[in-house]
Amino acid sequence: MKLWAGRFQKETDGLVNDFNSSISFDARLYKQDIEGSIAHATMLGKQGIIEEHEASRIIDGLKTILRDIEAGTAELTEDSEDIHMNVERLLTERIGDTGKRLHTARSRNDQVALDFRMFVRAEIPEIKGQILALETVLAGKAKAHVDTVMPGYTHMQRAQPTTFAHVLMAYANMFRRDVTRLEDCLARLDECPLGAGALATSTYPVDRFETAHLLGFSKPMDNSMDAVSDRDFALELLSDLSILMTHLSRFAEEIILWCSWEFKFAELDDAYSTGSSIMPQKKNPDVAELVRGKAGRVYGSLITLLTVMKGLPLAYNKDMQEDKEPVFDAIDTVKLCLPVFAAMVDTLTILPRNMERAAQVGFINATDCADYLVKKGLPFRDAYMIVGRLVNLCTKSGDTLDTLTLRDFRAISKLFDSDVYQALQLKTCVNQRKVYGGPSRESVEQQIANLEAFIAAHKDVGSDEA
Ligand code: ARG
Repeated sequence: MKLWAGRFQKETDGLVNDFNSSISFDARLYKQDIEGSIAHATMLGKQGIIEEHEASRIIDGLKTILRDIEAGTAELTEDSEDIHMNVERLLTERIGDTGKRLHTARSRNDQVALDFRMFVRAEIPEIKGQILALETVLAGKAKAHVDTVMPGYTHMQRAQPTTFAHVLMAYANMFRRDVTRLEDCLARLDECPLGAGALATSTYPVDRFETAHLLGFSKPMDNSMDAVSDRDFALELLSDLSILMTHLSRFAEEIILWCSWEFKFAELDDAYSTGSSIMPQKKNPDVAELVRGKAGRVYGSLITLLTVMKGLPLAYNKDMQEDKEPVFDAIDTVKLCLPVFAAMVDTLTILPRNMERAAQVGFINATDCADYLVKKGLPFRDAYMIVGRLVNLCTKSGDTLDTLTLRDFRAISKLFDSDVYQALQLKTCVNQRKVYGGPSRESVEQQIANLEAFIAAHKDVGSDEA
């Protein structure tokens, strides 16, 4: 029999039962549901809304349910619809009528808002930890490649020389922002919806500050209608995870390119690549491709929840039961991607000679050649024009700037001298770029040091002891 059978004259249709039920996925909230109920019962007892001894029996009963769900011995049924009603049913089965007092001054609306929020709160530090582990891999790899010159691209055209460490630090900085975005999400969700009831609190003297405190929140949410209607924390998490997946996906794309025969800047470890069922020569970057593909899946979750929420009037609407699966799926996906991606990067073999060779063609030092003339007093625009003419000459003769003779140079500008060859060397080009944030050895070493300080400072911030 349903909890609400009193109001009804017919049994719920079987189809509706199945359609309405969320236990198949919200069972995942059992721990938060029980923790929330323990805090609620504690407060009810303390406030004299129920007897202290009743509160204790309820709490003991809830603890046995938690233990048994974890052991797989408590039966969760479709008929009890969701995790909240399953726990309440189990409680009443175990401790009798006292169990029926738990739901005083509470609704499933504030209950689910609480459980879901606590679930997200517990997941964020785990994801953050995985991002920081990836950052550690990037810092280590970058240290080994501060002198590994490679072409930097714009429009996928060779543009200016940089180093592999500089490229790695570019991604590392994106991931740093992903970490702080997740910390922001955690800070903003730090308010407790419990006690909002169905939407308008209750007439009992509940102490929302007490339950907020017991559950590790800094305070109760300010408005009860907002408390039961708000899913911003889930949207914010999905937005953060979508941006994170964008970063992983861009990085994955580069790795795929680097490992192609066209680039051959890097080679995947055998353990992190796959073969082809027909082409014996193939070594495929499946891991990177799957990460790139799974970005689509996480964006899908974000769009799902945005769309579910967009037209909902206050306060709770059953549409909101659709909030959980996309969030679970996005969290699972991200937690699957991060460790395998970090290991793939860690085991990637870099081929510095090929990187350098690619940097030697394509006139990647043309800007430096113009800068050379500027240092000799020419305005940049004139220098730019002169180097353009030199490049034009090279494309006709099959030269690169550094294979031109001094006579060729001087035929176009008398400002050129034999020191031009030194200025055009890729290592010089890179190491002259000492500007903060740039690719020179000392600039990148600074970036790595900043990253390491970041990792140390963020390791424990926001971790959930509750
Ligand atoms: N299973 C529901 C959900 O996930 C719980 C809240 C139900 N509330 C209600 N008024 N029907 O959203």
